[in-house]
Amino acid sequence: MTSQPFPAGFVWGTATSSYQIEGAVNEDGRGRSIWDDFAHTPGKTKDGGTGDVAVDHYHRYPDDIALMKSLGVKAYRFSTAWPRILPDGQGRIEPRGLDFYSRLVDDLLTAGIEPYLTLYHWDLPSALQAHGGWANRDIAGQFADYAAIVTRALGDRVTNWITLNEPWCVAFLSHEIGEHAPGLKDRAMAMRAAHHCNLAHGLGVQAIRAATPRPADTRVGVTLNYSTVLPLTDSEADRRAANLVHQHDPFWSWFTKPIFTGAYGPVWPPLTPTDAPEIRPGDMASICQRLDFLGVNYYTPIRMKDRDGMPEYTRNPGAEYTLMDWEVEPEGLRRLLRDLKSVTGGHVPLYITENGASFVDAANESGQIHDPRRIAYLRGHLDACRQAIAEGVDLRGYFVWSLMDNFEWAHGYQQYFGVVHVDYATQKRTIKDSGYFFRDVIDANAIL
Ligand code: FCB
Repeated sequence: MTSQPFPAGFVWGTATSSYQIEGAVNEDGRGRSIWDDFAHTPGKTKDGGTGDVAVDHYHRYPDDIALMKSLGVKAYRFSTAWPRILPDGQGRIEPRGLDFYSRLVDDLLTAGIEPYLTLYHWDLPSALQAHGGWANRDIAGQFADYAAIVTRALGDRVTNWITLNEPWCVAFLSHEIGEHAPGLKDRAMAMRAAHHCNLAHGLGVQAIRAATPRPADTRVGVTLNYSTVLPLTDSEADRRAANLVHQHDPFWSWFTKPIFTGAYGPVWPPLTPTDAPEIRPGDMASICQRLDFLGVNYYTPIRMKDRDGMPEYTRNPGAEYTLMDWEVEPEGLRRLLRDLKSVTGGHVPLYITENGASFVDAANESGQIHDPRRIAYLRGHLDACRQAIAEGVDLRGYFVWSLMDNFEWAHGYQQYFGVVHVDYATQKRTIKDSGYFFRDVIDANAIL
């Protein structure tokens, strides 16, 4: 059965990021990034996986573009690696780095695929980390300089710009939880990093708009991640628990709210004077720039239940979980899109810039990869998008994470998000059934 069609012109895309796919870490003058350092530190990634080779996209990008074209993909979200373009993070520009992205963009456009360029997807130049990285306020201006350089080089052809990918991960996962580079566990540093991410975003938006040769066509946004807080049951106590956590949810209070309303909201536990970052006069206005769109990354909800009047995190015993151990719950996406409509006043178009699932895939004897669970995941989440659109949400596009299996950060090569399988020994790409499913959805502009 075919669903109601998506709106005409709905953008169907795939997403990747530089460090997860490029490899070629020592080529063409690329500087080191904090992910090179982190992945090469024993014990930080599963099985010691690194992005040294990854899926060799740096050399195979023409094949990867051909692959996307064969799937009928209309748009491609990728990131530029800051240390390829500015090996020291600032100052000297490496023309060979810019040239790589220039060729990539040209070939995408020739293939009829619209580039969506993310300026920062976590591979910070190590040279900037040496000065404190995101915990040092200088990063905001350095990011804006880098944004202007890339915009000047590619802005004649790239019109869709995303400043940062998932600043929550840049700040908290990397500086408080310590699971991502640079692997710190310091709340005060994480709060500072969060404020500096927001500031970098705001200055970055201004820099892109000032530098682009095509101001009338240029659209600038940011990609934020969310885990919708859902109650375990429909009981009033569980709903109250979920609501309390939602009120203090850093995805909203430390990124969505400041970026769209110019003010921070509460977090839990409350900030102590030593945790609170310095906010200078004018900062909040710099952060709260008019945006042309918001990129939304959603994979899984967070479940809360009531325990003696206090919220408690819980698994959902009735639910399916992916290989990441993430609950599958499309309702979390529908709810999220509805909630975002109210915070952005419904005036900011939304794009799903990442959504997808990791499962173990096995090729059969004829080499086909049947991945019915990934197809079911995509189908459920696409249906949530369709419902949200029917409810009046201005959702303009959907980018599946990911085009192909790749280096999944601390999980190394042990998670598989691709709709295309990669044999890491040979770098052979094989379209999974989910890739064909996605191709058919794009072709019909509807869920089949
Ligand atoms: C997101 C990241 C992306 C990938 C997916 C699974 O948080 O932006 O790079 O790791 O999760």
